[in-house]
Amino acid sequence: MKAFMVELFASYATEIVFLHVLSAVVWVGGMIAMRFAAHQSFMQIESPLHRLERISQSLKRLFTIVTPFVIILIVTAIIMAVALGFREAAVDANGNVIDDYAMHIYNLVHVKEVIWMIMAANLSMMILRRNKAQKLLNKGDSTGAKKALELIGKYMVPVNITLGVIAIYLGATLRHAY
Ligand code: HEM
Repeated sequence: MKAFMVELFASYATEIVFLHVLSAVVWVGGMIAMRFAAHQSFMQIESPLHRLERISQSLKRLFTIVTPFVIILIVTAIIMAVALGFREAAVDANGNVIDDYAMHIYNLVHVKEVIWMIMAANLSMMILRRNKAQKLLNKGDSTGAKKALELIGKYMVPVNITLGVIAIYLGATLRHAY
């Protein structure tokens, strides 16, 4: 498997980095557009039911668009993490650190992996929460739906935007590591 990833990256490095960056652009950029452009516009709608319906529908579309890119992001990340030999540069076969700088860089790869996991878990929880809000909206319960959607807009999306920006910064760091 490792040899296959090394071979794959050797043949398609540009395409793999491109897909990784594109996925980050769509995922993080999509959330920024929703939170800072679309959201402000939705707040102008006076009827709570109508407003929440628009928010719920646009979140559904955002989540549908970003999901394949979340998968592409982790697949390309794993290929790069394996093929670029971060572990081999940092530790020997027994797991002893052989180079402090390489170990620091290898740890950053792990930090990115943890960030992806938190972002993906947060996204999954947002999808479930939105589905619940939609069911409440279908029953005409705008108070319940508002409670469910409020948390997404106030905390869950901003948390993922922040983590995404940190991951992009770490990506730039890894790119210029050697
Ligand atoms: C799953 C964990 C991840 C790993 C192991 C990983 C690994 C990497 C590596 C090794 C590079 C450098 C590529 C090169 O040298 O050409 C990179 C670049 C990049 N990563 Fe990740 N990544 C992960 C998650 C993420 C996430 C969650 C985002 C943003 C949402 C992201 C955004 C970027 C961007 C924008 C770059 C390009 C930076 C540049 O070209 O200057 N990555 N990543």
